[in-house]
Amino acid sequence: QELKISLEEIEKGGYDHFMLKEIHEQPKSIMDTMRGRLLVEKGIIQMAGIWDYQEKFLNAKRIIIISCGTSWHAGLIGEYLIEDLARIPVEVEYASEFRYRNPIITDEDIVIAISQSGETADTLAALKLAKEKGAFIYGICNVVDSSIARLTDAGSYTHAGPEIGVASTKAFTAQLAVLTMIAIKLAKHKGTISKEKFNSLLTELESIPVKVEQVIKDTEEQVKKIAELYVNVNNFLYLGRGYNYPVALEGALKLKEISYIHAEGYPAAEMKHGPIALIDENMPVVVIAPKTTHYDKIVSNIQEINSRKGKVIAIVTQEDSQVKNIVSQAIEIPAVSEYFVPILASVPLQLLAYDIAVMRGVNVDQPRNLAKSVTVE
Ligand code: G6P
Repeated sequence: QELKISLEEIEKGGYDHFMLKEIHEQPKSIMDTMRGRLLVEKGIIQMAGIWDYQEKFLNAKRIIIISCGTSWHAGLIGEYLIEDLARIPVEVEYASEFRYRNPIITDEDIVIAISQSGETADTLAALKLAKEKGAFIYGICNVVDSSIARLTDAGSYTHAGPEIGVASTKAFTAQLAVLTMIAIKLAKHKGTISKEKFNSLLTELESIPVKVEQVIKDTEEQVKKIAELYVNVNNFLYLGRGYNYPVALEGALKLKEISYIHAEGYPAAEMKHGPIALIDENMPVVVIAPKTTHYDKIVSNIQEINSRKGKVIAIVTQEDSQVKNIVSQAIEIPAVSEYFVPILASVPLQLLAYDIAVMRGVNVDQPRNLAKSVTVE
């Protein structure tokens, strides 16, 4: 027993929990995932799995992304990226729904499976079904040689390293890195973005690990203080638009999973169709509000919350002044193109969930009722 404890302590590398260690590992895990693929000097994204099946990808009528949990949120961001940049229609499905609803699937479809563990039972079963119907299966897995990785026709591993905390953090941002590279690469080959845009996206993507590092450094203490203010609330709302809608979902999921606080993620504009009824002075609302597309819309969403006395915690761009003046707390992230905001904005939300969970004294790395890899239905 003693030996086990000390081994675990060593594995935690000085951090109190695996989750915190894994949050801090993200600059490295994202870089490891891009290493050998994102070749800025050569002006290419090298991904053998995509290259070998280039014709298939470029002629695809549709891509279906299948996954569960946090990987499903990565899939939603992947949908926005691939549709926006490469103009290929994408659908994102919960594996558990897909497999039981008699889906339409043909040999002209590409299915992308996203799974950290590569062992999630629902995802595996959904892929088997898609494969039977002749779809081409592409995997984005973290665990090498896992069941899902073995079933796929091709794929790109995330090189996040082992993720121990049940709540996924570094695997998620590594999935986003892979999806971003796929979207940019397909866009280049399809000719849906200019060469200049391709090059500038490459350069910007390369700078993301350093920016993630900066976000951790700049926000860690502030987020702890924010967590202290809200540790005793029972409900949280998370809102975002466009690329940041899935970020809101993921932020809410993190909080639910490890702090057992009820949290809901919503597209900001949908607030008026229901959640706005919940807003009062006791309701903290996390709004992902970077200075990118839809900025004015998100500002008016914040005003709607304010007029109902909700407390807004906003993720804002460093140069922002407008949102900062109308919210209770503003957490700054560096200015980047909207494609990259989800990676940066997710980090303080992971920290917020972590800090609140620690303050509530719950088992952060192994939350009740949850499993790291769900190998049963
Ligand atoms: C479980 C884990 C989640 C994970 C989901 C999908 O619910 O607790 O963190 O996102 O499974 O897992 P996968 O390994 O397929 O990404």
